[in-house]
Amino acid sequence: MRVSEGSRRIHERALRRKGNEVSMKTRIVGTGSCLPETVVTNDDLSKIMDTSDEWISSRTGIKARHLAKEETTASMSIKAAKRAIENAGVAVEEIDLIILGTVSADYVTPSCACEVQAAIGAVNAVAFDINAACSGFMFALNISNAYIQAGLCKTALILGAETLSKVVDWGDRSTCVLFGDGAGAAVVRGDEKYGLLAFDQGSDGTKAEVLACPGRTNNNPLIQTDQRLKFVHMDGQEVYKFAVTTVPASLQKTIQAAGLTPEEIDYFALHQANIRILQSVSKRLHIPEDKFPVSLDHCGNISAASVPILLDEMNRRGLLKTGMKVALSGFGGGLTWASAVIEW
Ligand code: COA
Repeated sequence: MRVSEGSRRIHERALRRKGNEVSMKTRIVGTGSCLPETVVTNDDLSKIMDTSDEWISSRTGIKARHLAKEETTASMSIKAAKRAIENAGVAVEEIDLIILGTVSADYVTPSCACEVQAAIGAVNAVAFDINAACSGFMFALNISNAYIQAGLCKTALILGAETLSKVVDWGDRSTCVLFGDGAGAAVVRGDEKYGLLAFDQGSDGTKAEVLACPGRTNNNPLIQTDQRLKFVHMDGQEVYKFAVTTVPASLQKTIQAAGLTPEEIDYFALHQANIRILQSVSKRLHIPEDKFPVSLDHCGNISAASVPILLDEMNRRGLLKTGMKVALSGFGGGLTWASAVIEW
């Protein structure tokens, strides 16, 4: 069930390297994000379905979300990527790896990462998408770390990007009010002093049905299939229970592996699913809520894009200072989860 050990071993081996080789940490050196122009408030939703600002705000903390009209998963990714590259101050030719986490790419093929590569002119990059739902950006971070530690790449662009409004069921008020659209990106590269200190990553495919979105059904001439489009369905209470037990445990394990205590962490930048999940994690770790920055109030849950958008907002607000300890965590469909502790 757990698939967390491999990448951690690569990282630890690299950190143990002695002699002439300098151990490099994988460091986030730039961030960027993009949200669609159109903002839809809870009150707007209450005009088109049987819901209310009171119900949504009190149960989730969400007040508004951005929904794509002209924007696509690729167009938002490209804008976020350009902003991250500019923020990092790297030349686009230096990027030799692009990993994009998404469950809502525009095409089955080409990958959204290849669309980004073409649009930004990252001619030296290997590009591919991954699907780890709301943990997608965190999985991309860990894969880029493994590539960097193994000497397979020097500068990676990692992204989380979603147009969830095309995969949610707009007839199901218990799910559609939760999600939004957007993209976030980060540039990562090896650094001698600062960067990733520890990582934890896991999956539990036996719980797949608590949060799922079916893909295309087979339409070959040999079988008759139901061609109706199928959308996201979720057992909200099961997902909630999973999040409030797994996330604090994963964070505790990662913080300990980094040689730190929760009190030494400056910020907890977690996947933005629900304010009550953030409050529960803060309570279980005995850490004040003001160390848990929030973007879900104006973005909703943007799956793989939540963590990089939050990081970009923190970065641009000047919250992140060199050497600060930041714990990150993503969790969601699969089920999947991943936590990291970084020195900014
Ligand atoms: N507006 C108004 N009423 C709504 C509603 C909406 N948007 N959605 C559901 N309801 C109603 C239900 O029909 C139900 O009514 P009933 O009691 O008459 O049957 C009632 O509200 C309670 O629904 P329930 O599903 O029990 O609510 P809840 O307290 O469990 O809250 C969630 C629902 C989704 C907010 C909560 O389960 C949750 O946050 N789960 C985690 C989900 C998550 O974070 N997923 C992503 C992880 S990556």
